[in-house]
Amino acid sequence: MSQPANKIKRIAIATGGGDAPGLNAVIRAATLAALNRGWEVYGIRDGFNGLLMPEQFVEGGLVPLTRDTVRGITHLGGTIIGTTNRGNPLRYPVKGLDGVVQEVDRTDELIRAFLLHGIDALISVGGDGSMEIANALAQKGLWVVGVPKTIDNDLDGTVITFGFDTARCFSTECLDRLHSTAASHRRVIVVEVMGRYAGWIALESGIAGSVDVILIPEIPYDLNKVAQKIKERDEMGRNFSVVLVAEGAKPLGGDVTVSSREVGRAERLGGVGEKVCAELQEMTGKETRLVVLGHLLRGGSPTSFDRLIALRFGAAAVRALSEGRRGVMVALNPPTVNYVPLEDATRRMKSVPLDCDVMLTARDLGICFGD
Ligand code: F6P
Repeated sequence: MSQPANKIKRIAIATGGGDAPGLNAVIRAATLAALNRGWEVYGIRDGFNGLLMPEQFVEGGLVPLTRDTVRGITHLGGTIIGTTNRGNPLRYPVKGLDGVVQEVDRTDELIRAFLLHGIDALISVGGDGSMEIANALAQKGLWVVGVPKTIDNDLDGTVITFGFDTARCFSTECLDRLHSTAASHRRVIVVEVMGRYAGWIALESGIAGSVDVILIPEIPYDLNKVAQKIKERDEMGRNFSVVLVAEGAKPLGGDVTVSSREVGRAERLGGVGEKVCAELQEMTGKETRLVVLGHLLRGGSPTSFDRLIALRFGAAAVRALSEGRRGVMVALNPPTVNYVPLEDATRRMKSVPLDCDVMLTARDLGICFGD
């Protein structure tokens, strides 16, 4: 499987995990850059399911990507080749004869499918799960380049992932809208945003949207501190408050709020906003309402920032292949795009450093973190 760069004839692109605005821009840039080198390009349907479960797809598990199929998609949310978070080949959910679902490693089978289809190299676009898969496939000899995606911005090795800016901007716009209604009704509004392991969306949109409280996974919270903040604002005549909670936030000494568990996929988070809302109403006696932004943060048209990053990442992934690089992830290292070993990118999550200047800014602005 170790092909010299000038021997590449056919590559595949896979998008895995939760979707993020900018996936289509990556697909377009990578496809055009590859076609311009005379390579053929295929999209694998729904992560790797197009190769592992081809019979599931009426039009086949591999979609030819041509100038026509990638025309006019840069501004579109979602991914034209589909994605899934139930198809991790390292831990694929398989139902046994006894009806029990177990996680099975199907990476060898996947490598054979690449060989069978004459695919010389893979561009794997995704978050931490996809980079872990890409790394495992690279270790087994497949020629892989990763492209970092996630609205949570929690991948290490790159200053930013595409999708994050769109989520941050949308969250900020929602917070602006919620401010005026919270103020008019003198209410507390609790807003829950995504952010499983890292609080980047909550932190940055919270500062930009001038909220009063931000609860993030990195700082276990004490709601007494939050209630105190709301009380102090009331005493100053600011009788409304906006409290922004990342889905992965947890109380001091407590754990994250899980909404469901299923074999073969990460546990689903959600519900912390509801708890915070009910408890704050009880503690402050103020009318408290909840808004969960959830998947709205993942949809819609990517911002121009995300489009540009995604296009740069897609083109850079193809340049990496044509330069003979393998086992690397494309990364933004301003002002340029560079490459980091997949192993480094998957070693740890990029959580919010508590002493970073964005955190210090929030503290200087008087934002409460429940600590
Ligand atoms: O990784 C991005 C993310 O948006 C997380 O913040 C969230 O926990 C997860 O995806 C939700 O995924 P799903 O769409 O499978 O519920």
